[in-house]
Amino acid sequence: MDSSRELRLSLKNKLKLRNDRSMLRILKSNTHLADFSSNDYLGLAKNESLMNNIKLASANILQNGSTGSRLLTGHSQHAEDLEFFLAQFHKSEDALLFNSGFDANYGLFSCIMTEKDGIIYDELIHASVHEGMRASKSKYQKSFQHNDVESLITQIQEFKKINNDGHLFIAVESIYSMDGHVSKLEEMINAVKNYKNCHFIVDEAHSTGILGPQGRGLVSELKLESQVLARVHTFGKALGSHGEKFRGSLCDLPNGILLESDTPIQGVLVPERYQLDVRPIRSPTVPKGEERIRICLHSHNTDSEIDLLTNSIKTLILNSYVSNTNAISARL
Ligand SMILES: Cc1ncc(COP(=O)(O)O)c(C=O)c1O
Repeated sequence: MDSSRELRLSLKNKLKLRNDRSMLRILKSNTHLADFSSNDYLGLAKNESLMNNIKLASANILQNGSTGSRLLTGHSQHAEDLEFFLAQFHKSEDALLFNSGFDANYGLFSCIMTEKDGIIYDELIHASVHEGMRASKSKYQKSFQHNDVESLITQIQEFKKINNDGHLFIAVESIYSMDGHVSKLEEMINAVKNYKNCHFIVDEAHSTGILGPQGRGLVSELKLESQVLARVHTFGKALGSHGEKFRGSLCDLPNGILLESDTPIQGVLVPERYQLDVRPIRSPTVPKGEERIRICLHSHNTDSEIDLLTNSIKTLILNSYVSNTNAISARL
């Protein structure tokens, strides 16, 4: 068999294996179903007045593309104006635009650390931070337990034992993307004050538009702008808060099924590979045994859509819970 045929066959087998395990990811166009998956929390993607404003503003732009990277010919006054606005809005010294939140994390983490610096990150930090860390010069990279101030301090002390001079960067998210937990940022910043050369980097992807005055994020809400080194905001998500209603309807589920969260991101733990019509989050995105459906609540979701969703979840989970319990009693 020639080598390219061999490679094709091996890739085909890998795809088949994924398919057999219901793990094959397939791109889907937007459906007409009620939206409980997108990050468009505010419904801005289809907001007509915003759409009209974008059309009006783009009428004044006299070219179709940037013509190159910003370092070469692609720089523009529009980008500079937006960065200036964002820096002022977020009470930050400066702002820099990236193509996406993923690129921002990658760029930030891959370029600012030197070999003698360390990075300590929440164990649930987003994949884009991991990619940035992988490309970073820093040789010391350790996780601390999720949102756990004591564990963070233990890790700082470990680093200081071997390197008291290097800078230590601490990576956290404001709202954790898979669980919806809000970071204990203020507690962490207070606890870390006694240690020199520690710098917080806060990924505000899921708090942009949700927390803080005019949706400026958690750092602004807590007035901690001067205490953090950098914040990453993305344009890919936005505001919405149907949180409490939704949780009230699911309060009779067995303990531990509905994950703790006061944010628009709601997690419902489900048995592995259960077939559902909302987007499932599987391992390795979340640890094995913690597979879930991730529900995003939006300002445009109606009460009846939410009722329909919560009733379906209840039926599904309670049925699966009852049949598991039956199976266990039968075996006993
Ligand atoms: C916490 C977090 N940071 C960064 C990103 C990347 O943002 P973007 O989708 O703009 O690339 C995401 C995206 O899901 C995220 O959840």
